[in-house]
Amino acid sequence: MIDNKTLDVAITASVEKLQSLFGNAPEVAVVLGSGWAGAVSHVQDGQNLPYTELPAFPQPKVEGHVNEIVVGHIGGQRVVFLRGRAHTYESGECTGMAGALRTLKRWGVKLLVQTNASGSLRGHMPPGSLMLIADHINAPQRSPLVGEQGSHRFVDMVNAYDADLRKHALALAKRENLMLGEGTYCWALGPQFETPAEIRMFAAWGADAVGMSTVPETILARHAGLKVMGIALMTNMAAGLSAEALTHDLTLKQAQMSGERAAGFLATLVASLKDVAL
Ligand code: HPA
Repeated sequence: MIDNKTLDVAITASVEKLQSLFGNAPEVAVVLGSGWAGAVSHVQDGQNLPYTELPAFPQPKVEGHVNEIVVGHIGGQRVVFLRGRAHTYESGECTGMAGALRTLKRWGVKLLVQTNASGSLRGHMPPGSLMLIADHINAPQRSPLVGEQGSHRFVDMVNAYDADLRKHALALAKRENLMLGEGTYCWALGPQFETPAEIRMFAAWGADAVGMSTVPETILARHAGLKVMGIALMTNMAAGLSAEALTHDLTLKQAQMSGERAAGFLATLVASLKDVAL
């Protein structure tokens, strides 16, 4: 883990780079999870910059993965997409996105929209469904804020997923005739999938979807002072809830099948934020 002083230098350099290339920050940033990459095709006048040019961003360890930001407009709303996130299961560290999110905040971003692929715990949200994240369960009880100083570290997590913006998204989905569930996302560390017993426990806790990301970033974003929204794309029924064996391939295939609709709604949502005070 890098210390805060080193991270701060990297954040300052990253903000300067973004400001010099793109000017002032868009108000909206979107983290694209598995299945959501198609959203980039909705961007007008998009400009790309690889994470390797931004020292506070997670540096890709595997060649060939897309790890870049895309800055542009969707409708009248300016937006920065983050393609590629650091997962806790890659390194054991849950702080992988700290530098990137603090850079966005310092640049001037107001809202972080998170997207991910999840397993569904609920029969009314079959694979292909979208779920607006209303709340989360930090099952591993890991925090990216361990070691932070000051009273500021005791972040209020009530309405971490902004209540007004959730209302806005649900109303938009209704207008668009799109089924958008709302529920609680449970973070599982991974990279192994869950056992059926774990899924039964998460369901008893009140979880509606399970996945291996998003929660550390929401904590970091709230600590940084960003508003947060989250949408999960159900790629499979969670372990033990369907006869199908759980594989990464299965989740990727389902993500590809429903990705276009998910990306279409995300684009509509981003465009609609033009009329929302953030
Ligand atoms: N469990 C955890 N992460 C996931 C799943 C799942 O069932 N599906 C997609 N990401």
